[in-house]
Amino acid sequence: MMQDACRNRYELHENELIDRFNRRLNYLRVSITDRCNLRCNYCTPAGFFPKLPHKEILSYEEILRLVRLLVCAGVSKVRITGGEPLVRKGVYEFLSELHRIEALSDISLTTNGVLLKENIRRIKSAGINRINVSLDSLNREKYGKIAGADRFDEVWEGIQLSLLMGFDPVKINMVAIKGVNDDELIDFARLSLIYPFHVRFIEYMPIGTQCMSMERQMLAPEIKQKIEEIGSLHPISRGANDGPAERFRFDGAPGEIGFIRPISRHFCPDCNRLRLTASGQLRLCLLSNLQFDLKTPIRTGASDSELLNMIFSAADRKPLEHELVCREKSTVLDPMYAIGG
Ligand code: 5AD
Ligand code: SF4
Repeated sequence: MMQDACRNRYELHENELIDRFNRRLNYLRVSITDRCNLRCNYCTPAGFFPKLPHKEILSYEEILRLVRLLVCAGVSKVRITGGEPLVRKGVYEFLSELHRIEALSDISLTTNGVLLKENIRRIKSAGINRINVSLDSLNREKYGKIAGADRFDEVWEGIQLSLLMGFDPVKINMVAIKGVNDDELIDFARLSLIYPFHVRFIEYMPIGTQCMSMERQMLAPEIKQKIEEIGSLHPISRGANDGPAERFRFDGAPGEIGFIRPISRHFCPDCNRLRLTASGQLRLCLLSNLQFDLKTPIRTGASDSELLNMIFSAADRKPLEHELVCREKSTVLDPMYAIGG
């Protein structure tokens, strides 16, 4: 039925986006801004963002047009990211519009949580039910050092309120780095024993021109071994809609533990993701510099079918896997805030 609706609307493709390696690309991550109200030191090592001028950023109308086209090509899940998505003006109206796209079965949001508490009702009324909050320390002082601002209390209250408001799941993303927050792994793991949070340990990806040394990375096996000091982790079987996280649970725990392992286990062979950057580049892989400009065509009058053709031929060039390394410089030039995590 959706295909019919799309065909009537756009006179188009019956095909879904399936790449050369037979991966169905049905999950889109959209960065709506490169701006952020924090300065996490692994994301902005120089302590500042070179902000894109507003006109270089896709308007909400342009984003919605591209999302609708991608939905016609089989995308059914969308995650909104940044920078920090909640700093962009009009974001709640945009989320409501997104929610009106019928064939989107799953819309979620990744936020640093600073603006969560005061806006949680607006997020909920926009139809969002799934939320990921980045939190790299449970210690107020250390949080301030990592994030570059003393905002721990707001974030923590926002996280608690998300649970109370019935967001499900509430995921907590923790990027584990040696000598920074590796002494808190157990504290984070314990959260899953107390609350129904999904606590996700993310391996640091050395990207951007000033990446941190790879020796500081903590890889999932090491993290797992550490947190198993408080109990054994039992694997949770994967659901059809699961992302790349390897999921576990402690006995009797209301919450979950997840490991996102871009480094220690490439999940590339199963990758179903596409990314749209705030500046309108379609990126086939977070960890490859290959991207395709959709902003110029959209602003110079490309028709829906022309745009879709571009999307289909771009998707065909999705690399099989990443070759991320950072010696003096990372092989991935753009920082996370410019791509959307
Ligand atoms: N490596 C791993 N995770 C990162 N994030 C930001 N930069 C990096 C990086 N270099 C995380 C953020 C956020 C998620 C979207 O990505 O902390 O939780
Ligand atoms: Fe902002 Fe996220 Fe980068 Fe932290 S990691 S500075 S919250 S974009």
